[in-house]
Amino acid sequence: MAARRRGPALRFWAAVFLLDLAFCKGHVEDLDDSFKENRKDDIWLVDFYAPWCGHCKKLEPIWNEVGLEMKSLGSPVKVGKMDATSYSSIASEFGVRGYPTIKLLKGDLAYNYRGPRTKDDIIEFAHRVSGALIRPLPSQQMFEHMQKRHRVFFVYIGGESPLKEKYIDAASELIVYTYFFSASEEVVPAYVTLKEMPAVLVFKDETYFVYDEYEDGDLSSWINRERFQNYLTMDGFLLYELGDTGKLVAIAVIDEKNTSVEHTRLKSIIQEVARDYRDQFHRDFQFGHMDGNDYINTLLMDELKVPTVVVLNTSNQQYFLLDRQIKNAEDMVQFINNILDGTVDAQGGDSILQRLKRIVFDAKSTVVSIFRSSPLMGCFLFGLPLGVISIMCYGICTADADGGYIEERYEVSKNEPDDSPEPAERPEPPQPRGAASPLPAPQEPKDVLEKKKD
Ligand SMILES: *[C@@H]1O[C@H](CO)[C@@H](O)[C@H](O)[C@H]1NC(C)=O
Ligand SMILES: *[C@@H]1O[C@H](CO)[C@@H](O)[C@H](O)[C@H]1NC(C)=O
Repeated sequence: MAARRRGPALRFWAAVFLLDLAFCKGHVEDLDDSFKENRKDDIWLVDFYAPWCGHCKKLEPIWNEVGLEMKSLGSPVKVGKMDATSYSSIASEFGVRGYPTIKLLKGDLAYNYRGPRTKDDIIEFAHRVSGALIRPLPSQQMFEHMQKRHRVFFVYIGGESPLKEKYIDAASELIVYTYFFSASEEVVPAYVTLKEMPAVLVFKDETYFVYDEYEDGDLSSWINRERFQNYLTMDGFLLYELGDTGKLVAIAVIDEKNTSVEHTRLKSIIQEVARDYRDQFHRDFQFGHMDGNDYINTLLMDELKVPTVVVLNTSNQQYFLLDRQIKNAEDMVQFINNILDGTVDAQGGDSILQRLKRIVFDAKSTVVSIFRSSPLMGCFLFGLPLGVISIMCYGICTADADGGYIEERYEVSKNEPDDSPEPAERPEPPQPRGAASPLPAPQEPKDVLEKKKD
């Protein structure tokens, strides 16, 4: 079009591009076949990408910034990227099954990153995972400093012991999610009372909880349950992660933009219950709110009226709804108690019937979304006897257009063998968090750590 007018602009962008090349790209190494041999003594943060994948293209500028910043921070972690389609055998050896896959490779361990793809989150992950597994807290000041920086963290208190061995084991697996420290008794704040030593504590929600080997079972699973704050802003990512905790999740489903009292009240009721009934419920419950009902509707295969409160059982995908509005905290506590004593009927679940319903539901949503985005195309498609094949073709075309659908689907289907209710479209990354986010990097739970033997 206006090619002549674009001349100077073009030159400007070319200059920017060259600068970019000089100052950014230089810090991300393009990896090839030789990587397997050459990586041995270094810690690597690698983006395994496919040239055709839209999400990979979106990640690229962020990745360049990550490379630049890691370099300027003097981090020992090297940043690289590998075209996983060209070097597919290496990629598959590292367990790459979707694009982009971000991994931190440290000796014979490979840690997957599945968190929000932002520079800060990725860098925080790299620092945490590449550093010491257990960081000592030598002084009270240091302890207080960590309390300010991390909203959730674990501390081992005591000397050498079998519990410490277990703590180290748990940390090597769960460092992808959270922080692990060790300290002596003198260093912990005065309000902490310990009946026994050694001990493992979690500090969060302005209080602390002590691990009890007899009541809490295996240390790793306790850490997995306790690594979340009591009250959270929920999204699809987070709910999926919470699935590993086996807890019940009580969510106020609201419209954050709606300032009417019903919405704000429901959120504060849940916050109040989370805070005031912490001792009673914290072992079995997780609390939070969610903006909008899109995700939850897909999960429940139902149309929820907003605002409302839903309680999900993350271990069997059942859920509980109340037929009336919750008016205050007492109402909510009553609802919870009724769930616990079995007087509220569970809906949903993971039975065969529910699975069939899921298949029908997914097919229906696909059809509806085709009609919504292009009614004409919809009529055309369903006028044809080979409608099903056409849907697939249509899917591929749209994926090319927005570059998202197919590859997400790919990732979902490859990484989640069970039909867990992850939506086809990954929701936007969770609410912005502080730089020192205490929230662990969302990750494929069963896939956290892969021992590599190369
Ligand atoms: C806000 O929520 C109330 C109650 O659910 C609803 O009646 C109202 O229409 C909503 N307002 C907007 C602007 O969506
Ligand atoms: C949640 O699901 C688990 C596993 O099926 C079950 O044992 C538990 O009783 C359920 N909790 C409630 C409150 O229904």
